[in-house]
Amino acid sequence: MLRIQVLHGPNLNLLGTREQSIYGTQSLDALDSAITKLAKELSVKVDLRQSNSEGELVTWIQEARSKYDGIIINPAAYTHTSIAIRDAIAAVGLPTVEVHLSNIHQREEFRHRSHIAGVAIGQICGLGPTGYLLALRGLHDHLTASLREKKTAAPARLPRTARGTRSLRSRSSDRVQSEGSIE
Ligand code: DQA
Repeated sequence: MLRIQVLHGPNLNLLGTREQSIYGTQSLDALDSAITKLAKELSVKVDLRQSNSEGELVTWIQEARSKYDGIIINPAAYTHTSIAIRDAIAAVGLPTVEVHLSNIHQREEFRHRSHIAGVAIGQICGLGPTGYLLALRGLHDHLTASLREKKTAAPARLPRTARGTRSLRSRSSDRVQSEGSIE
C-alpha cells in the first residue's frame, strides 16, 4: 500500500474562518476528511499534519524518507521564504506535490515566487480544496507508474549454472553467425 504524507503549513489551522473570500469556508478538519475519504478509495495510507513552525515541517519531511513514498505539501507563507523546506524536500528525494488553495500567481508579487516548485514534481494552485484531491490522484498515479517501471526494468536473474549455459550457447551461435557472414 502506498503511503503519502500530507503537510499543511502555517495559518492553515485557521481555514474556514481565515480570509474566507480567498481561502473559502471549509475548515481544515473538513478538508482532511475529504482527503482521507479519497485516500481510502485509492487504497493509499495518508498521514495528515499541520504546523505553524518551519522547523517542525523540516523535521517531518526528514522523517518521511523512511516512512512514506511521497509528500503533498501546502507550505503556506513558507513557500515564499523557506530555503530550509526546499532543501529538506531535495534531501529526502521523495516525489512531492506543492498545493495552494489560492492562485498565488494572481496575488501580490511576493507570492509569485515559490522556493518549493523547483524541487516538486508539480504545483497545483487556485482550485481550492479540490487541489489537494487532484494532488493525491496525481501523486498516486506517479508513484504507481514508477513502481511499475522499476519492476519491468529489473533484469530477470538466472541461476549461476543456467547463466553459464546461456552464455556458452550464445557464444557458439555468435561464431556460426560470423562464420556465415564470412562465407
Ligand atoms: C497559500 C498561499 C500562500 O501565499 C499563503 O501565505 C497561505 C496559503 C494557499 O494555500 O493559497 O498561507 O499557501
